[in-house]
Amino acid sequence: MVKRKTCIFISGRGTNLKNIISRSRDKSFPIQISLVISNNKNAQGINYAKKFKIPFKIIDTSLQTHENKILLNLRKYKITFICLAGYMKIISNKIINNFQKRIINIHPSLLPKFKGLNTFQRVLKSREKETGCTVHYVNNKLDDGHIIIKKKFYVSLKDNVDNLKYQTQKLEHKAYPEAIINIFRYC
Ligand code: GAR
Repeated sequence: MVKRKTCIFISGRGTNLKNIISRSRDKSFPIQISLVISNNKNAQGINYAKKFKIPFKIIDTSLQTHENKILLNLRKYKITFICLAGYMKIISNKIINNFQKRIINIHPSLLPKFKGLNTFQRVLKSREKETGCTVHYVNNKLDDGHIIIKKKFYVSLKDNVDNLKYQTQKLEHKAYPEAIINIFRYC
């Protein structure tokens, strides 16, 4: 099986990155992580790239040249698939057009509900009965695009932001690898 050379984009803790790296070591998992890109030089997730000896690049998105830098690195590492995992920046059209149907994202809500930031606070405020996570293709709108997989759990009256986050991330670590397997099932 030829594994897809994949780049993971992160901005923060990188628990999804860590989980996908570990799943990708399985021979039958359809992707290999060939590059990690972060917009944040202090992202904790960079330590996983270091630990697993995966090349990583810090690309400051406030620079005008950042799109070209990203594209240059994606070409250099022969990347054919992109996973956004807690990457808190909008992906520009230029990159999306170069990777049509080959960029996916994970979001901590049941999309289309609660796009954007402060998801857990908003879930609690609107007294949702259930919440969860969504993996979807990326288009040029925020947390939009065709949905690949959703996973959910019930919200209890005792829940707060911290334990909603904990439960959601536990589900994310199941949903993201499952979505990747689904995408390449027939390839
Ligand atoms: C995840 O919960 C992911 O769903 C969220 O950032 C977190 C990153 O966690 N992404 C978004 O909110 C994107 N709109 P991680 O760095 O531990 O993987």
